[in-house]
Amino acid sequence: MLNKIIDGKKISEHIQNKIKNKIKKKIKSGKRPPGIAIILIGNSYSAKIYVKKKKNACKNVGYIFKYWNFKNHVKENKIINLIKKLNKNKQIDGILIQLPLPVNMNTNKILNSISYKKDVDCLHPYNAGCLFQKNPRIHPCTPKGIITLLKRYKINIKGLNTVIIGDSNIVGRPISMELLKYKCTITITNKHTKNLINYTKQADLLIVAIGKSNFINKNWIKKNVIIFDVGINKLSNGTITGDVNFKSVYEKTSYITPVPGGVGPMTVISLLENVLYIYEKYYKK
Ligand code: GUN
Repeated sequence: MLNKIIDGKKISEHIQNKIKNKIKKKIKSGKRPPGIAIILIGNSYSAKIYVKKKKNACKNVGYIFKYWNFKNHVKENKIINLIKKLNKNKQIDGILIQLPLPVNMNTNKILNSISYKKDVDCLHPYNAGCLFQKNPRIHPCTPKGIITLLKRYKINIKGLNTVIIGDSNIVGRPISMELLKYKCTITITNKHTKNLINYTKQADLLIVAIGKSNFINKNWIKKNVIIFDVGINKLSNGTITGDVNFKSVYEKTSYITPVPGGVGPMTVISLLENVLYIYEKYYKK
């Protein structure tokens, strides 16, 4: 039964084509293209891969794409001054700081210097607060991608016992806010959770974002669970794996996202949608 594999790649390509056509029309009518600026600090292989995917998708739909890659020890002020310039740049609609930042950096200070109007990640305190108030201005990218998939597959999640593994600001926390709106019952777990398996075995909907290759296997889940695997891990032999052991759990699931080709492409396309949303607001003014 192939249709229980949630095809994020196909859906993201479909949305990407729609955006591309929209941008063509906007350019024809004399408008400028939407623009995004991405700042990456450090040399992480996986972060570079994420940024490359974002770049390829942006270029494909005709967005302006500006990119900076700084060394780990770059001064915080240099980044903040660049962000201040980008806040004023009329060609740039969205600014994204690729996370995580090196441990020596004050992540919140840097993120908070992005204008909330250009915050494509919903990480600025104002935007995060609006999400918390059930009145989001913008939807965070990975959670938005997951919600899009749930809607496309017409999966009714009302009342589902939902377990989220990982309490990060880009996945665990915001997806809990999004899913609460759909009346899920939520448990957010973290690396200190005792007897994690007791929670995962109760889950109707399991969202895994811990960055540990093949961490969840069939012994951790109940029958007919819906699994969203947010992990992207690179093994020493170059293979990309998720946080869930797909082969092991497959038979027991009612829906599952593969890695690659599940949540990853949806995060990228949600970013493109967010940039377009901000851009359209700009032209409405
Ligand atoms: N690192 C991994 N995913 C993301 C994302 O969606 N946004 C940001 N800013 N950093 C990330």
